[in-house]
Amino acid sequence: MRIIFIGPPGSGKGTQAKRVTAKLQIPHISSGDMLREFVAKGTTLGKQAETYMKKGLLVPDELVIDMIMERIHQHDACRGFVLDGFPRTLRQAQELDQALANSGLPVDCVIHFDVPDEEIIMRSTSRRLDPETGRIYNIHFDPPPLEILERLVQREDDNEETVSHRLTKYREQTAPLVDFYRNKTTVYKISGVGTFEEIEANLLDSLTQNGSF
Ligand code: AP5
Ligand code: MG
Repeated sequence: MRIIFIGPPGSGKGTQAKRVTAKLQIPHISSGDMLREFVAKGTTLGKQAETYMKKGLLVPDELVIDMIMERIHQHDACRGFVLDGFPRTLRQAQELDQALANSGLPVDCVIHFDVPDEEIIMRSTSRRLDPETGRIYNIHFDPPPLEILERLVQREDDNEETVSHRLTKYREQTAPLVDFYRNKTTVYKISGVGTFEEIEANLLDSLTQNGSF
């Protein structure tokens, strides 16, 4: 099954994608995580992407599209995937559509996460990441164990100013994709507010309804 997660920054896409892909045994493909890995390794793509990411702007389509096309064609993605953070522009969505149509493997459904702006700013600025395990924590909502506190890092784009730029970009360029997909597949709108377990249960209900779980 091929599932796309669309939602504003900090709406819980990564958190829920990790939970659901563990159950479905398919890869979690996060464009943001992939780009951050390239930045950390200092590759050419990483250096190009970093300038945009730091400012909360979208990385140019041509850089991101090739990266994701290569990833979805890898062997572990043949049974499906959850795409988290891609597509983010109409051009990305069209290219993905074309690539999947060429392989005869359409998108099964889109999950649209809905979270109010105030909550987004709070969640993003209090997010912390464990570089050793990749686990996402939150100092208010999902506190890490004390013994690992020192090794946790904060994303460079998780300050209030950059989060509000990311939110603006989301509204301008990504939110319209929900309508694009409504004409092509099933879109489930899920409230991203609630406990992690409640949201996961709603998500799994939608996937069951869709026949993807
Ligand atoms: P990306 O990494 O995709 O960031 P994003 O979309 O802004 O989303 P986030 O990762 O910030 O949030 P999330 O929804 O995954 O939430 P999470 O689960 O972590 O992209 C970063 C940048 O890369 C972009 O700005 C752009 O520059 C570039 N980029 C990436 N893809 C691109 C593309 N396709 N095209 C162009 N550029 C691209 O949760 C957030 C926090 O909230 C955590 O602390 C978590 O613990 C907490 N939380 C989660 N759920 C709950 C809950 N139910 N209650 C309370 N707290 C919760
Ligand atoms: Mg994320």
